[in-house]
Amino acid sequence: MCGIFAYINFLVERDRKYILNNLLVGLSRLEYRGYDSAGLCIDGKNDQEILIYKQVGKVLALRQKIEEDKDLDLNKTFLSHSGMAHTRWATHGVPSERNSHPHRSDPSNEFLVVHNGIITNYKELRAILEKYGFVFESDTDTEAVAKLAKYIYDSQKKAGNPLSFTALVKAVCKELDGAFALIFKSVHYPDEMVAARRGSPLLIGVRTDKKMKVDFVDVEEVVLGEDQVGNQQNYRRVQSRSFFGEDTTPQPIEYILASDASAIIEHTKKVLYLEDDDVAHISAGDLHIHRLRRDDNMSSIRTIQTLVQELAQIQKGNYAHFMAKEIHEQPESVINTMRGRVDFNKFSVNLGGLRSQLTNIRRSRRIIFSACGTSFHSCVATKSLFAELTDMAISLELSSTFLDERLPVYRDDVCIFVSQSGETKDTLLALQYCKERGALCVGVTNTVGSTISRETHCGVHINAGPEISVASTKAYTSQYIALTLIALQLSDDSHQKTARRKEIIEGLYSLSNNIKKALAQEETIKKIATQQFKSATSLILLGRGYQGATCLEGALKIKEVCYIHAEGIFAGELKHGPLALIDNTMPIILVMNKDRHYSDVENAFKQVTARGGNPIVICNEDDDSSLFHNMSTIRVPRTVDALQGIINIIPLQLLSYHLATQYGYNPDSPRNLAKSVTTA
Ligand code: UD1
Ligand code: BG6
Repeated sequence: MCGIFAYINFLVERDRKYILNNLLVGLSRLEYRGYDSAGLCIDGKNDQEILIYKQVGKVLALRQKIEEDKDLDLNKTFLSHSGMAHTRWATHGVPSERNSHPHRSDPSNEFLVVHNGIITNYKELRAILEKYGFVFESDTDTEAVAKLAKYIYDSQKKAGNPLSFTALVKAVCKELDGAFALIFKSVHYPDEMVAARRGSPLLIGVRTDKKMKVDFVDVEEVVLGEDQVGNQQNYRRVQSRSFFGEDTTPQPIEYILASDASAIIEHTKKVLYLEDDDVAHISAGDLHIHRLRRDDNMSSIRTIQTLVQELAQIQKGNYAHFMAKEIHEQPESVINTMRGRVDFNKFSVNLGGLRSQLTNIRRSRRIIFSACGTSFHSCVATKSLFAELTDMAISLELSSTFLDERLPVYRDDVCIFVSQSGETKDTLLALQYCKERGALCVGVTNTVGSTISRETHCGVHINAGPEISVASTKAYTSQYIALTLIALQLSDDSHQKTARRKEIIEGLYSLSNNIKKALAQEETIKKIATQQFKSATSLILLGRGYQGATCLEGALKIKEVCYIHAEGIFAGELKHGPLALIDNTMPIILVMNKDRHYSDVENAFKQVTARGGNPIVICNEDDDSSLFHNMSTIRVPRTVDALQGIINIIPLQLLSYHLATQYGYNPDSPRNLAKSVTTA
């Protein structure tokens, strides 16, 4: 789980300072993908010398290190140049300079590679390359890729069969197992760059002042000859058009390659998403996409898309942290999830992404939800509403245990995969498993163009906007709504459910305002964080019915950003064990709403207070129960039971945020965690 970024200018004069700044800013946008170390490479005196900078820690530390290099001529200009950069989250080897990317083929930096993903056969490759005399410098899987490139390059050259950069990268990729987005740079192919992807995201932004005549590139299909390493690749160019139509004069152009659109948007809105097994070659201002292998099912056209995100969406605004910003964005993000999909006058829901599969979904015999972390909690939160509205059998499966259990999945099952990033490896593996068994796979993702979004048969984008903070907040409420909308749409053929559906759609209408009211409790919550949880080392959250999920999610937030042990417990389970933990020292949060579980939660309240517990109660504004007159309360607006969890989670998000900052932790980058977990 890493972020990769590259910048190539052709016939656009740029000084080194500009190039370095571009690479560093690009990396900082991708820091949420990993931030334990960073590195970059640029041209040195000439394009036969490549300079590498690496530093442990965040991108800022790398910037400082580069600024300290007084020998570096920042004013040196380049008419054409290719530079690439990487921000890392350790999977192979501890965070250290030697494990940071770019990785190199040899001490003279002939081939350099940045990589996101995991090469599963790197040990075998390493053993072979060591036999050929290569000396490895790092513990990473990536280094084998750089060294393999040199090995193939040298041996083909020696055999009198020099390879083009593209053919070389293809030969390398064919030897790799696992997942990757890779970018290669080499002194042997100055100002060129080759990128390849399989399983890890990679997109290319195009910036030019000239008007592009076409908004797509045709893929050059590969006609495979011998597929042994080193044998020459024959490939047939189908019809590769330049962006400028028939105009063949070289045009000034810049390319930006990145794992994520958030690093590209400030340069250009024109992007092209690479597909698995695409190999992109950029040289002399031209971009050509080749295929690693022949695949009749794969379209031979890659469209240049226009990003609709705005840069402001990915900046912190006036907030100290992305987490605070994202919590406060929720009155708006929930509306974005519903925009164009809910008709509040007709009480109807229309999800464009599900339209073609509605009948199939309704005919299925069971719905299986699968996700990890917060996304899983959004499934827990909406499970009973799904069952109630659709009358279908529902099952919930953590993606991380799906394959362990080898669960039976059938052709008439519908599997719903929920993932903010759309790249979570565990969820992808569960998706692959269900797809192989013929189930209809539905995605609920926040990232358009993500692997889950593309690999599912259909789905719903939650449209919450980029979520940078590792701890998920606005994605949770938007996932909750998206899943609720699916249940509402699936049940719109049932007359019996009309009243219930109407009640929920009315609740959706007032959701944004109710979230604003919950956010207005921030000062009370901050006070509770500073006064009542100052020295907490453990915390219990209790709730029932719909609020069980709220407690699980609230506890996860506290664990993630405050490093406090927190446990969300369905209150009915209290008497089956957790009650033993309760005394006057155990901090407790009790979620108690005016719904059909109220008296059950009242019982839990009594059980807890009878044992000296002094819970903080999250309750409705209109609850005048004398039970908690002497207790701290956080009062939230009341809404329909099935949506109350969206309101209730707000104070818990705020509490975890303020607790974290009170302890001096950076909630955007919790220790040991990363936003997008792309390894299983
Ligand atoms: C789509 C457009 C939206 C436009 C609207 C106008 C996109 C991404 N969305 O939104 O910009 O305003 O039409 O009607 O262009 N999908 C999956 N798996 C997933 C998520 C989505 O396969 O995990 C598929 C859907 O089935 C659909 C497509 O991706 O075919 C777009 O999904 P979504 O954005 O949810 O569709 P709309 O809301 O119709
Ligand atoms: C990781 C994150 O574990 O993945 C969690 O740290 C997140 O915050 C989980 O909930 C699932 O991610 P996604 O992108 O699939 O929703």
